[in-house]
Amino acid sequence: MPDTLTITDNRTGETFEVDILYGTYPTYGAAIKSLDLREIKGSEDDFGLLTYDPGFTNTASCKSAITFIDGEKGILRYRGYPIQELAEGYSFLEVAYLVLHGELPTGDELETWDHEITHHTIIHEKIKKFLDGFRYDAHPMGMLVSTVAALSTFYPESRRIDEPEVRRSQIIRLIAKMPTIAAFAYRYSIGMPYSYPDNNLSYTGNFLNMMFKTTELEYDPDPVLERALDVLFILHADHEQNCSANAMRNIGSSHADPYVSVAGAAAALYGPLHGGANERVLKMLEEIGHVDEVPKYVERVKDGDFRLMGFGHRVYKNYDPRAKILRELAEDVFEVTGKNPLIDIAVELERIALEDDYFVERNLYPNVDFYSGIIYQAMGFPTAMFPVLFAIPRTAGWLAQWQEMLEDEDQRIARPRQVYVGEDERTPRD
Ligand code: CMC
Repeated sequence: MPDTLTITDNRTGETFEVDILYGTYPTYGAAIKSLDLREIKGSEDDFGLLTYDPGFTNTASCKSAITFIDGEKGILRYRGYPIQELAEGYSFLEVAYLVLHGELPTGDELETWDHEITHHTIIHEKIKKFLDGFRYDAHPMGMLVSTVAALSTFYPESRRIDEPEVRRSQIIRLIAKMPTIAAFAYRYSIGMPYSYPDNNLSYTGNFLNMMFKTTELEYDPDPVLERALDVLFILHADHEQNCSANAMRNIGSSHADPYVSVAGAAAALYGPLHGGANERVLKMLEEIGHVDEVPKYVERVKDGDFRLMGFGHRVYKNYDPRAKILRELAEDVFEVTGKNPLIDIAVELERIALEDDYFVERNLYPNVDFYSGIIYQAMGFPTAMFPVLFAIPRTAGWLAQWQEMLEDEDQRIARPRQVYVGEDERTPRD
């Protein structure tokens, strides 16, 4: 069977044959080159056919070997490894290494990686002054986005994006410094002195130290919460071509440095339809207030008054596998923190929605944001920190996407086309 597609243009009666590429996996991967369609012209001076795809719902903007999602079956894999196995048996730093390098680290590789990340967590003292310039009630995500962009001015060599060693140094710095900036932004917003990194702690243990240390000489993270945060970070490490990964690739495609590119990706993550959703989930659960109020709320969603936050996904048309892991993880966390009463409302909301035709017909299932906020709140994180907690681990994914894009010979500066629907040339009035 030939890997080609025959297209007949009914305007002209002409027939075209275009190649079908990358068709190795039966469901995912078959694509035609959009540029092949340019040959299809209604008339001689026609520009040629474009594809119209707002939101890129059916456009492959790249080839990628990082993350595989089968949204119909609810499958998520990083570099071929199922998310469940990674969440069960590995640390976030191992998974970040995997996402970036393509393989899990050996013992030696992990030791070096861990050492390098741990020894780049401190931020320049001037960054603290920069943070001090924010208003007292600044949202930590706004602070994170701006501060990561500002790092670009501290590391001007980062503009040498075609040198692998230079790239590697910035990748280490970014993964190491994101938790520090995030925690400092939080401490600033509550008027607490900054807590400096502790090199004796793990990546997530140290983050908890920078967030929550008060007067004790050494912060001793609770191992269950430290591990829970590691799992949450693993689940958020990458998710292929979502809005923020696309922003990272877009900005990076102009050869901007990785700091401003990550800042742009984090800005894309900030929106309530992406990384800001779990903040909205908590607001929603608080607004519902009691399990008895759930049916009424669901009716209002069906009437189109608002969306059920933490439900639905562009890619998953099945239960998001990350949400499943988080539902179980919530129980472990509550053993330490005490139960977050919002979980009862969430479980009831899920039960009613999954039995309702409106949600069933539209394949709307809980996504990762449905349970993550409840866990974060139980651990003591304020809701404003939720998108920040998403941005920290996703930095590994953004950087993997960025690096893959730079090394891909097919990639060029991102520059989509448009279908112009405005006025034809006209003459202004005198
Ligand atoms: N509640 C109620 N109805 C919904 C919802 C929802 N959460 N999501 C989609 N729908 C309906 C929508 O109204 C539409 O119905 P109809 O066909 O009658 O007009 C249909 O389902 C398809 O919706 P869509 O907007 O075309 O779907 P999309 O793929 O463009 O949007 C989404 C995906 C995630 C933006 C959307 O499901 C949504 O707004 N969810 C709530 C926000 C949320 O939880 N976001 C986190 C996403 S997961 C984390 C991440 O990757 O960032």
